[in-house]
Amino acid sequence: MTWMRWRPAMERALYAAEGGFYRRPEGPAGHFRTSVHASPRYAQAVGRLLLEVDEALGRPEEIALIDVGAGRGELVGRLARLLPGRLRAYGVELAARPDGLPPEVRWRETVPEGAVGLLFANEWLDNVPLDLAERDDAGVLRYVEVDGSGAERLGGPLEPADAAWVARWWPQGERFEIGRPRDEAWAAAVGALERGLAVAVDYAHRRQDRPPFGTLTGFRAGREVAPVPDGGCDLTAHVALDAVAVPGFHSLWTTQRDALRALGVSGARPPLALASSDPAGYLRALAGAGEGAELTASAGLGGFGWLLQAVRMPIPQSLAGLPGWQTLEA
Ligand SMILES: C[S@@+](CC[C@H](N)C(=O)[O-])C[C@H]1O[C@@H](n2cnc3c(N)ncnc32)[C@H](O)[C@@H]1O
Repeated sequence: MTWMRWRPAMERALYAAEGGFYRRPEGPAGHFRTSVHASPRYAQAVGRLLLEVDEALGRPEEIALIDVGAGRGELVGRLARLLPGRLRAYGVELAARPDGLPPEVRWRETVPEGAVGLLFANEWLDNVPLDLAERDDAGVLRYVEVDGSGAERLGGPLEPADAAWVARWWPQGERFEIGRPRDEAWAAAVGALERGLAVAVDYAHRRQDRPPFGTLTGFRAGREVAPVPDGGCDLTAHVALDAVAVPGFHSLWTTQRDALRALGVSGARPPLALASSDPAGYLRALAGAGEGAELTASAGLGGFGWLLQAVRMPIPQSLAGLPGWQTLEA
């Protein structure tokens, strides 16, 4: 591979029809653990959110659940039989439809237009390819170019739209991850909803706490590795979730810890008295508590950002009152 900017290099390494990392048969779960893989309690919480969205929308004749960046359909597959007769469950994913998915799930490459319901994207945006930039000795921002071995050099100066994005969203730092393609991808997904709630969940940072050297890294078989764009590893960079928020909608931001607690998931242990009155129930509850603790741990999955955008509907009740929620600036 010759020198190229990171965005096309990531695009090819992750999604090329031949040899793209995400086209591999083992799927994301073969390389890292998302909330979806960590516990069925995650699907349970998203299911509860879907029921609340349905209620807030006045129980429409058809209600959509759109899982964007659906991986191998683990989340949407678990929820596909909720609200029988009314639910339209979609897995939006570039990789092929996995075997064994319930037939109710509609598998496609693009977000359906005009749906009414819940659009949920867990760890999608961190895999949307993006360009990186650094300053040269004269202080001019230039694209970082990469070759097939992962070696880097500075390329041409930033195009005006990217320079404007950095000036607005990432004014301080040594290395800049230009989130514009994520903003555009999210805006298109939200814009496709007729009415509903759009939720993006990811490793996130805000303007006031951008990591000065960026976050681009690789994962392979459960290990963090150097980000080499050769199709052999995941390539991921945290998401500037404040920049992603589409102006004009009621937008709320919190941590996964708070969101899941509001949706009934916690890491609290069952009372010890249950161990003698209902031993089997106690053991089940104990396992559930362990999974809840993993999903809500502040230093891990619980520290993820949740961005909610309400499209022509109110924010569902259990989340609307959360402390720490804030409306993001337009
Ligand atoms: C980190 S995985 C997350 C999978 C799943 N949501 C989970 O939480 O386990 C990201 C997924 O997003 C998919 N993806 C990336 N860009 C996409 C796009 N533009 N359209 C559909 N899927 C995409 C990738 O193929 C990959 O399966």
